[in-house]
This record gives sequence, structure tokens and C-alpha cells, in this order.
Amino acid sequence: MKTIIIQGSARSTGNTDKIAQLLKKQLKADRIDLCLKNIHPYSYEHHHSEDDLLPLMRTIVEYDLIILLTPVYWYTMSGLMKNFLDRITDCLKVEKETGRKLRGKSLATVACGSEPQAIEGFFTPFVLSAEYLGMTYLGSLHTYVRQALPDKANIKSILAFTEKLNKENS
Ligand SMILES: Cc1cc2nc3c(=O)[nH]c(=O)nc-3n(C[C@H](O)[C@H](O)[C@H](O)COP(=O)(O)O)c2cc1C
Repeated sequence: MKTIIIQGSARSTGNTDKIAQLLKKQLKADRIDLCLKNIHPYSYEHHHSEDDLLPLMRTIVEYDLIILLTPVYWYTMSGLMKNFLDRITDCLKVEKETGRKLRGKSLATVACGSEPQAIEGFFTPFVLSAEYLGMTYLGSLHTYVRQALPDKANIKSILAFTEKLNKENS
């Protein structure tokens, strides 16, 4: 079962990346850093179909489990992650054969904030987007990083979540 983590932080080696490294190890997953990609905002005219989005999507659809990992910025997903989700529309309009390959794949979401409590409704767009794309939604996890490292409770919840994903995908 091939797993990929799509990391949507505005910095490559910040707090979200600390969570990514734990997930990567537990799930034996690959990781894509959206911060290093050139992905323009959605355009109705599909002006940007020559940027990194379509090649990236062709890679992503080769995986069985896709994990969207986003920091919490202003109570919601990062702009990079939202931009990426908006641009998946190109796979429904411009390159439909790639979009169709998302059907039946598994999706999970992990958030990284600075507070222990998850934000109400935070994961709803991910759950509904999975449903719209015909993907199986395997679950959501809220994590947080304070004082440079995730704490013990946080690590425990990450391990429980990855164990569940590994079981569901075996
Ligand atoms: C623009 C911005 C907005 C933020 N908004 C929130 C927020 O609404 N709630 C929260 O718990 N943390 C918020 N934070 C803190 C980050 O979620 C937290 O520090 C996270 O671990 C940062 O991950 P990163 O280092 O990968 O960017 C915000 C940080 C930034 C930079």
C-alpha cells in the first residue's frame, strides 16, 4: 500500500514538518512539500495548466493513501493547501483521466496547530471533498507543536492514528 503525505506549510522545516517526519516513519510514506512547488491559484480559464500541478497530480494518483497535512492558519487550512485543493479542479476539467484515478483512493487529513484542541468543523472540507472525488475518507487527526517538539500525548495520538491507517490499508 503506497502512501504519500502532502505537506502544506509555508515553511519546509517548521512544526508541520516535525509531524510529517513522524508520519513518514510510521507509515513508510513519501512526502511532497507544496512549499517547494510552483502552483498558481485556480483560474477559470486554466491559465496555469503549465505549472507544477498536473505533473504533481500524475504522481499523487499512483499512491493508494493520500494524507493531506496542513498547519492551522487562522482557524483553517493553510493557503497553500487550499490553493492545492482548488487546483484539483483542473483534474476534473482539464485532465479528467488523472482526476478519475482519484476515485477509490483513500484520503486522511492531519492538522498541526499550536493549541491542543481541534477547531470545530476544521476537517469538514476534507471529508466532503473526499466524498465529492469518490475517495474513501479514513480519518482526521489534530496535532500541535509547542516549544519546538510535539509532546508525549501528541506523539501517542499520532502513533494511534498511524496504526489505524496501517491496519485499514493492510
Ligand atoms: C499565519 C498563521 C496563522 C495561525 N493561526 C493559528 C490559528 O488560528 N490557530 C492555532 O492554533 N494556531 C495558529 N497558528 C500557529 C500555527 O498553527 C502553529 O504554530 C503551527 O504549528 C505552525 O506550523 P508551521 O511551522 O509548519 O507553519 C498560526 C500561525 C501562522 C503563521
